[in-house]
Amino acid sequence: MTKTAIFYSPQGGSVNRVAIKLGEMIGIDKVDLIHVTQAGKEHVDKYRQHIFIGSTVGADHWSNEILENEWEGFFKKIAGNGFEGKKIAIAGLGNSVLYPEHFADGIAYLYKEITGKNGKIYGFVDAEDYTFEDSEALNDEGFFCGLPLDEDNEDDLTPVRLEKWISLLKPDFEF
Ligand SMILES: Cc1cc2nc3c(=O)[nH]c(=O)nc-3n(C[C@H](O)[C@H](O)[C@H](O)COP(=O)(O)O)c2cc1C
Repeated sequence: MTKTAIFYSPQGGSVNRVAIKLGEMIGIDKVDLIHVTQAGKEHVDKYRQHIFIGSTVGADHWSNEILENEWEGFFKKIAGNGFEGKKIAIAGLGNSVLYPEHFADGIAYLYKEITGKNGKIYGFVDAEDYTFEDSEALNDEGFFCGLPLDEDNEDDLTPVRLEKWISLLKPDFEF
C-alpha cells in the first residue's frame, strides 16, 4: 500500500486538529502524520505522495526571527530538486473574516517552496466557494493552489471541504 505523509505545522492548535481529521478521513493506516520539526530528507524520499498543511500568521511572520517559522528549517534540509517525482497537495488554515485581503496566504508560501524544489502540486480548489477579498494563493484562473480552511469562522464546512478535496485528489493519489 502507498502511504501518504502528512507534514504539518504548528503543533497543538487548529492545524494539528485538522491534520488528524484529514488522516482519519483518508484512513489512519494509509497516512503517517509528521510534525515538520521532526521531518527531514529521509521522510521526503520515503513517501511518494505528500500532503502539507499549515496556517497563515501574517506576511511578516515568515521572516520574523522571534515568531519561529517551523517550515523554514525543514525546507533548508531539502535539496534544490528534492521534491522531484513526488505528488504533493497543500492545505492551509486562515481566517477569512479578520484577514480577508490575505486569506490563507500561507498556502502560497508552501507552494513556492515546494514547486521551487520541483514538486508537482495537485488539488487546486475553486475560490468561488469562499468569501474573501484577496489571497496570494490565488491563480489567474480563480483557483487556490491548495485547500483553504477557516476553522475560526467556518469550521462546520471543514469536513465537507476535506471530503471534496480527498475526492479531487483520488484520481492522482493512491489512498
Ligand atoms: C498573529 C496572527 C496572524 C494571522 N494572520 C492571518 C493572515 O494573514 N491570513 C489568514 O487567512 N489568517 C491569519 N490568521 C489566522 C490563522 O491562520 C488561523 O487562526 C489558523 O486557524 C491558526 O491555526 P493554528 O491554531 O494551528 O495556529 C492569523 C492568526 C494570528 C494569530
